[in-house]
Amino acid sequence: MYKTKLYILLILIGIISCKEEKTTVATTTDHLEKKVNNLLAKMTLEEKIGQLNLRGTSSRVKGALPEELKQAVREGKIGAFLNVMNTEYVDELQKIAINESPNKIPLIFARDVIHGFKTIFPIPLGLAASWDTKVAEASSRVAAVEASSYGVRWTFAPMLDIARDSRWGRIAESPGEDPYLASKLGEAYVKGFQGDSLNDPTSMIACAKHFIGYGAAIGGRDYNTAIINKELLQNVYLPPFKAAFKAGSQTVMTSFNETNGIPASGDKKLLKDILRKQLHFDGFVVSDWNSVTEMIPHGFAKDEKHAAEIGINAGMNMEMTSKSYENHAKKLLEEGKISEKQITSLVADILRVKFRMGLFKNPKRDANNSGNLYAKEHLELAKQAAIKSSVLLKNDKNILPLDKKTKIAVIGPLANKPREQLGTWTFDGDKAHSITPTMAFTKEEVAFNFVEGLSFSRDTSEKEFKKAVNAAKKSDVIVFIGGEEAILSGEAHSRANINLPGAQEKLIKELAKTGKPVVLVIMAGRPITLTNIIEEVDAVLMTWHPGTMGGEAIYDMLFGNQEPTGRLPVTWPKTAGQLPLFYNHKNTGRPASKEEFVHIDSIPIGAWQSSLGNTSHYLDVGFTPHFPFGYGLGYTTFQYSNLKLSTNKLTNSNQLEITVAIKNTGERKGEELVQLYVQDVVGSITRPVKELKGFKKVLLKSGEEKTVKFTLSANDLKYYNSELVYGLEKGDFKIWVGKNAANGLKSSFVYE
Ligand code: GLC
Repeated sequence: MYKTKLYILLILIGIISCKEEKTTVATTTDHLEKKVNNLLAKMTLEEKIGQLNLRGTSSRVKGALPEELKQAVREGKIGAFLNVMNTEYVDELQKIAINESPNKIPLIFARDVIHGFKTIFPIPLGLAASWDTKVAEASSRVAAVEASSYGVRWTFAPMLDIARDSRWGRIAESPGEDPYLASKLGEAYVKGFQGDSLNDPTSMIACAKHFIGYGAAIGGRDYNTAIINKELLQNVYLPPFKAAFKAGSQTVMTSFNETNGIPASGDKKLLKDILRKQLHFDGFVVSDWNSVTEMIPHGFAKDEKHAAEIGINAGMNMEMTSKSYENHAKKLLEEGKISEKQITSLVADILRVKFRMGLFKNPKRDANNSGNLYAKEHLELAKQAAIKSSVLLKNDKNILPLDKKTKIAVIGPLANKPREQLGTWTFDGDKAHSITPTMAFTKEEVAFNFVEGLSFSRDTSEKEFKKAVNAAKKSDVIVFIGGEEAILSGEAHSRANINLPGAQEKLIKELAKTGKPVVLVIMAGRPITLTNIIEEVDAVLMTWHPGTMGGEAIYDMLFGNQEPTGRLPVTWPKTAGQLPLFYNHKNTGRPASKEEFVHIDSIPIGAWQSSLGNTSHYLDVGFTPHFPFGYGLGYTTFQYSNLKLSTNKLTNSNQLEITVAIKNTGERKGEELVQLYVQDVVGSITRPVKELKGFKKVLLKSGEEKTVKFTLSANDLKYYNSELVYGLEKGDFKIWVGKNAANGLKSSFVYE
């Protein structure tokens, strides 16, 4: 059964070939509510409070389960566990819950299964670069099959935080900077994790996180303050969560940050008015690790009891790891600070999900599900995902793909690091299964000479430089594989300087002095600023942290078996000083322009104060990114022509059909990601200069031409205005169809 499903999903991403499956989204029925209410009626207050408790454990607990833990389950004081990775513990705890606790309510076991469980896929920012919802769905389906074999039925994913600042460590886990792309991916992840039915033993309930605005942390400093006006919240940060809920995500996680002065775990407006009333979410909310009691350092709660009061009154259902509800809910009730009705309602949401998961009928881990860990199909999917995620940023003189007879010097601190290439949030991925680039080159009998040059990405020692340079001199091409160790991105790992760490830049410059072509392959959890070395290298291939099969994927791309087809899901800055930087920005009253910009090095001595063009730019780095959103090269070239609109008058009763001819003007077959952007030129609030409204992949043989079609309706263009009315004002629109956010064939239409 599972294999069929996986094959169908492999089909979807074009590895094999067939039809699509639909995912049933859970509904709330009277019958379900009756079961929930019947159970609630039997529960004591203590047991209700117990369901609100997500107990954290360490996956490194050894020996027998602590008696305290078993007793707490026996007394119904725990609703779910996090990080119980020993299947015997899972089975033992569940057995106690369903046989010995007062109302035999099953536990849910949770884990951060973010981009794979055992088989590791590219980091989510990499998967976002694939712009491929089928890859997103297939990879999360594989993760669910593997993780559920360990009893994990709840994953804390997908992370749907819009990220506009590459200094932020968690941009690695994000779907990038665009709400449209993030929404498509979020929907696909939820479908993959939850599968066709929530009560399938290989289904893991999803958790859309972090609600809300975590990626807007000021300065890209993790956990920091987010200031988001109500329109931006509705138009940029909420859409991916809406898509996840529409796809049926059963849980949502509050974020660590405050937004506009209110920490998310205590934000009543957010969790009741927006989440429940506006978005009709009917699953349950889980706090992030200790984020309820962190309202104390936030200065929003005076103590633990006050934090519990705020969380419960805000409608935050399940408390992760901190114990404020467990310690104070009963007292708060006696003091009239909260009501039993509130507690009952919070528990009802959790029981509803447990019923939907079929846990009451089928609480035990499916011992027959081996998870097919590291199955051939899983590894193949991981390799294809790594290829589809990789972005070719530079390829001067078409140095890539390399001829298989090319003698290469492989140099750099990430050429053979099985653990580092997995990236952040990969607790369960076993590096022993990683295929590194040097392992792949060896297997494929590539003629290569390997000298690390630096032993880890932050290494500043130059003791191996000479040996590396000598190896380079004896080669035809230098392949430098560098970037960031896994630990340099992810939670709490923001960087103010996002250049290549350590002495990598210095080594690349030394290598370039040999006159040999340099191909830079980057493994990193974020865009890396390349301004210092971009002229020293002939090609740049960004593979993010590519996962278990990264080495084979890199081999296939470097030697042309397959082309990298990724496109940037985030704007790539020249320097960290430009951040936050994103394509869908506002025009301002003084938009930057080439005509008015004078570079700092060209300013005449004693220049008159207002002689430099008063527009929004930096004197030293200008106003454009290094590479724009949606950018990526391939191994062929494409020509866009004949942009046509079916009408230039869009109304509420028609649709706009947009067609464009795409021709493969290169020697090799290739895939192009055709992107559709729109600008609402005048709005009752200022509107972005561009917004992604569609994308399509087209595969063309050399010389082949195809017409690509998009359709747009007024609904696709609506936005929330300053009164939070979701609508569209009549007026002029611009439209582009192109290969990235910075260029494309342009046209216009009127909405009337
Ligand atoms: C972390 C993260 C969250 C994760 C949770 C459980 O601190 O913020 O994304 O799911 O704790 O590990």
